[in-house]
Amino acid sequence: MTMATLKTDPARLERFLTEIAAFGATKNGGVTRLALSDEDRDARNQLKAWFEAAGCETRIDRMGNMFFVRPGKNRALPPVMTGSHCDSQPQGGRFDGILGIIGGLEAVCALNDAGVTLERDLIVVDWTNEEGSRFTPGTTGSGVFAGKLDREAMYALTDREGLTFGGELERIGYKGMEDFDPRPLHANFEYHIEQGPVLERQGKTIGVPKGIVCLRWYDVEITGVPNHAGPTPMNERKDAVYAFARMASDIFEIGLASDNVVATVGEVHPSPNSRNVIAGNLHFTIDVRGWDEGETDRVCADIEKAVRTHAEVTGTTVDIRRTWEVERAPFHPQLVSMIRETAGELGLPALDMVSGASHDTVYINQFAPSAMIFVPSIGGRSHAEVEETSWADCAAGADVLLNCIIKTCND
Ligand code: GLV
Ligand code: MN
Ligand code: MN
Ligand code: MN
Repeated sequence: MTMATLKTDPARLERFLTEIAAFGATKNGGVTRLALSDEDRDARNQLKAWFEAAGCETRIDRMGNMFFVRPGKNRALPPVMTGSHCDSQPQGGRFDGILGIIGGLEAVCALNDAGVTLERDLIVVDWTNEEGSRFTPGTTGSGVFAGKLDREAMYALTDREGLTFGGELERIGYKGMEDFDPRPLHANFEYHIEQGPVLERQGKTIGVPKGIVCLRWYDVEITGVPNHAGPTPMNERKDAVYAFARMASDIFEIGLASDNVVATVGEVHPSPNSRNVIAGNLHFTIDVRGWDEGETDRVCADIEKAVRTHAEVTGTTVDIRRTWEVERAPFHPQLVSMIRETAGELGLPALDMVSGASHDTVYINQFAPSAMIFVPSIGGRSHAEVEETSWADCAAGADVLLNCIIKTCND
């Protein structure tokens, strides 16, 4: 019997996940744990306490990324990294992100129980602000770590209240004072829920993504003419909401017409947002993603054109700006195979797929061999309070993670 048959403790994993879901719990069973909020701070404190009780050292870098280090026998060897994020969407789910950190914690505990010291250090990480909901863009902690985003520029980001990322990081006590940098990394695994319907529909337990889709984010500002909702003749209006409605309809249709690219209008902020005022201004966001970069850029070009056309015909003006883009991330073939094989060794049905959601690994993949492990999302629901994964599937994914950690930490 090889080491590859070590198992995690499903009851302990469930307990960790249930307890951490209390930080930011919503009344409908989800969590609102926005990046750098009090809830994020409290969850971080809990993670630190658990990892330290399990014998790990905590390191915190200047972006507030938290690294929990389980020392190996040979500390000079490049370490293995795993982890994800503990921030959530507003009214988000209890599994997105945090499962990957708790999966790493459970792997540490299972190794401790078995009395196993691995050759390499194992680092479990909590990346700051993966979601990008409160502070845009997302994956900022991993993006700065990868050298793809500028730290000072990220500190200067503001939320809708005008609070800065840097100020909030300091306020919650997680602005670390060191440039902790464990590179080069030997391997990086991120364990995550699928967030889509594929695994459940195919009756598979483990998703083996070959990579993450590319992503483009836009911020759009429509300017019309604010006026009274009663006396203003219909044919004389320059209505920002009407212009938006035409644009949003086309954005959906353009996404629908594409085979593999999706397009979403997520945020909408009309101003002054009053029932008897024709809106003079409207800000909205667009999120476009696809595995095929060429097709994604074609969809983006069509969307930009549609937005400008609708501004023109509605007598409004528009400013459309691309605020973020990330290339697609094809994972390391050997690590992808290792995940597929490890699932097989554990008797778990696995499926090759693509990640339609983005993850911190999109950036880590740029400098370290990386791959991800997915487990099914019930009903394909995520970024919503109803987000659910069975405890058995959570444990199955943690088992795959644990055994991939053992293999890579010992080779
Ligand atoms: C974050 O969860 C994203 O995929 O946008
Ligand atoms: Mn996530
Ligand atoms: Mn998410
Ligand atoms: Mn995500």
